[in-house]
Amino acid sequence: MATVNGGRGNNHSAIRVEVPSTTANLGPGFDVFGMAVGAFWDAVELEELEECGKRYLELELSGRYGKLVPRKQDANSACLAVKHFLEKFGIERGIRIRLEKNIPVGKGLGSSGASAAGAIVGLDRLLGLGLPKDELVALAAFGELCSAGSPHADNVAPAILGGFVLIQSYDPLRAIGMDPPPNLELAIAIPDIEISTKEARAMLPAQVPLGEVARNIGRASSIVAGILRGDVSTIGSGMVDAIVEPIRAKLIPGYDIVKKKAYEAGACGVAISGSGPTMLAVVDNTAAKASEVAKAMAEGFSEVGLKCEPLVARPCGGAKVVWMR
Ligand code: HSE
Repeated sequence: MATVNGGRGNNHSAIRVEVPSTTANLGPGFDVFGMAVGAFWDAVELEELEECGKRYLELELSGRYGKLVPRKQDANSACLAVKHFLEKFGIERGIRIRLEKNIPVGKGLGSSGASAAGAIVGLDRLLGLGLPKDELVALAAFGELCSAGSPHADNVAPAILGGFVLIQSYDPLRAIGMDPPPNLELAIAIPDIEISTKEARAMLPAQVPLGEVARNIGRASSIVAGILRGDVSTIGSGMVDAIVEPIRAKLIPGYDIVKKKAYEAGACGVAISGSGPTMLAVVDNTAAKASEVAKAMAEGFSEVGLKCEPLVARPCGGAKVVWMR
């Protein structure tokens, strides 16, 4: 067991971290690509229970979606990640976690990842450890076990690092961050249904044909090339998935119509956000209006009788400490 100096490197006992919504996959980058989306922000406050003297957690929930977050600690991504962190470093402390849940739950916008990411960034700072970013990402990814059934890092990495992130490897965890082009805007359509990430992962095949893998590698590579070149249309052209999305599309009524409408309104690329049901389009705002694309996507959902919240956002930075005391 790694022990970090009893885990106390400063004199603070409480911290507040704000952490953004994220989108994962971007089509072909299943469990690899993610981006921080400046649409919704959770706040995670951690407070040390000074008298406690043992490993112990308390959880308080608030915010617009607080009632939708699991209260049971083993089912809560923030609690699970913090517990794992304390165990890993042999730290015997009591921590109260206050989670203000403003990111919609069950929509594919990285809600559980944000809770875990905010908690891990906060705990690292509160204990004065200053762990490397990749280690923070790995610790936060552990929290996803309860919501997704596996510790995928493509939401927690952009929630921590901001911008566009690719997971180069899981063991050891290595995340590479890049800045999306400034003219990249996101049109987002959040339909009035929920999808469980765990279930949406359970339906995926364990093995896939080599031809589909080759197609995805080409598309995924062009997303990275587009980011590096600052070319939104190359990014968008890569957002076509041969493996996961065709299976999950069945969970989203209106998937084909929404996609078609987004392209007609000027989107460069459209994909399911994470495990859905949110659909996310990439727009070059020098060539089309993201608000028009989002509106068209919402119309697509309404054609199949689904209410939908359309919105526009930009990629954003990652988790930030708001205060420490
Ligand atoms: N890569 C994950 C999945 C993201 O698609 O299951 C979940 O938000």
